[in-house]
Amino acid sequence: MLFDSCDLGGIAMRNRILRSATHESLADASGAPGPGHDRLYSAIARGGAGAIITGYAGVRQDGRSSLPGMLMMDDDRLVQAYRKLTGSVHRNGAPLIMQLAHCGRQTRSKITGMPTVAPSVMRDGIFNEDLPVELSESGILEIARSFADAAVRARNAGFDGVQLHMAHGYLLSQFLSGYGNRRTDRWGGSTENRFRIIREIMRRIRSLLPHYPVLAKINGFDQRPGGMRIPESVRIAQLLEASGCTAIEVSSGTVEEGLTIMRGPRIPAEALLSCNFRFESLPKPLRPLLAQAIRMALPKPKLLHGYNFEAAAAIRKAVSIPVIAVGGLHTLDDLLAPLMNGFSDFVSMSRPFIIEPDIVRILQDGRRDASRCTMCNHCAIMIEAAPLRCWHGMLPGRYYRTE
Ligand SMILES: Cc1cc2nc3c(=O)[nH]c(=O)nc-3n(C[C@H](O)[C@H](O)[C@H](O)COP(=O)(O)O)c2cc1C
Repeated sequence: MLFDSCDLGGIAMRNRILRSATHESLADASGAPGPGHDRLYSAIARGGAGAIITGYAGVRQDGRSSLPGMLMMDDDRLVQAYRKLTGSVHRNGAPLIMQLAHCGRQTRSKITGMPTVAPSVMRDGIFNEDLPVELSESGILEIARSFADAAVRARNAGFDGVQLHMAHGYLLSQFLSGYGNRRTDRWGGSTENRFRIIREIMRRIRSLLPHYPVLAKINGFDQRPGGMRIPESVRIAQLLEASGCTAIEVSSGTVEEGLTIMRGPRIPAEALLSCNFRFESLPKPLRPLLAQAIRMALPKPKLLHGYNFEAAAAIRKAVSIPVIAVGGLHTLDDLLAPLMNGFSDFVSMSRPFIIEPDIVRILQDGRRDASRCTMCNHCAIMIEAAPLRCWHGMLPGRYYRTE
């Protein structure tokens, strides 16, 4: 069943395994994809993935990532470059879905050159050097229009669908979560009000592209006080289905919580200190002490594999559109379990494709029954300093290497 051909809301797939969105830091200054995207996505396509979701692509300049090399989809002039990319990935055998995002307060105005915007005026524990500006009614509607315009561009560029990034604490996730959204107008308060921006985006996309696949990546839960919990994410999934969403990928966590989105046995604190902007001025001798403090302060996850199964299963029971499970699915058993137990209809992975773009073929051919990824998470930390790569086996003193 895992390796049988199937259909994801109109997207023909040769198996049920997607490459989950993974920022690559490979775009040029305009946000156009570079040759590195072509090489990487083509390798993943040749390596047997059922479908590929791009790294997050920005819909507006004020929602651009503070990480270098983010893909953008905010300008018609980018469409041509993406056409080349979609053509090449299709020739290598996989559909390509573009993830659309606005970072909200999870970015830095020093990098975007614009004020950071958010549903509510709350300082982000990681990113903001200034308080974000609370979005006005017209600002919210402009953002909804930007998502819809970007979806049209993606369709025109040959993408097989788009995925709206509503997870991990980015703007749409900030609106959905009672932690990030403290508004008292019609965009805050009840779940339905917090969902209103998504309804507006979906309404606009559906009026322009009635049948185009529009997926969502949502948080089944997070660990923020007053934040997302499974019963509410189930309700949000139902609202998504009613708004015309094609499929829901279930993730969890926010960037502010530390590495809960992509879990690992150990916090890579030394790497964090060596490349994160917050520690730029920290004297080197203090680093080991601080590394120890970071390790003690950040939560230690109990579950490293299949940590979103519970949320995915609850959501799948409540909706009739396909559900995709992600998060620590690094062995054949991890990938089979949600399908066999009815927790999800599809599965997705991120880190296993970083160390081995052909991981699907490896598993399918029976060459191995698990990814070689050790969940060290240096890929996630070092993306601030260098394009995406697996840092497995690198010595701590050589973290700055960027080739
Ligand atoms: C380097 C890196 C970049 C990521 N970038 C994105 C992204 O752009 N959008 C997104 O929704 N998730 C992103 N993620 C999260 C993954 O899609 C996935 O949800 C998470 O890593 C758990 O899956 P895994 O255990 O298969 O890695 C990223 C993860 C990593 C490691």
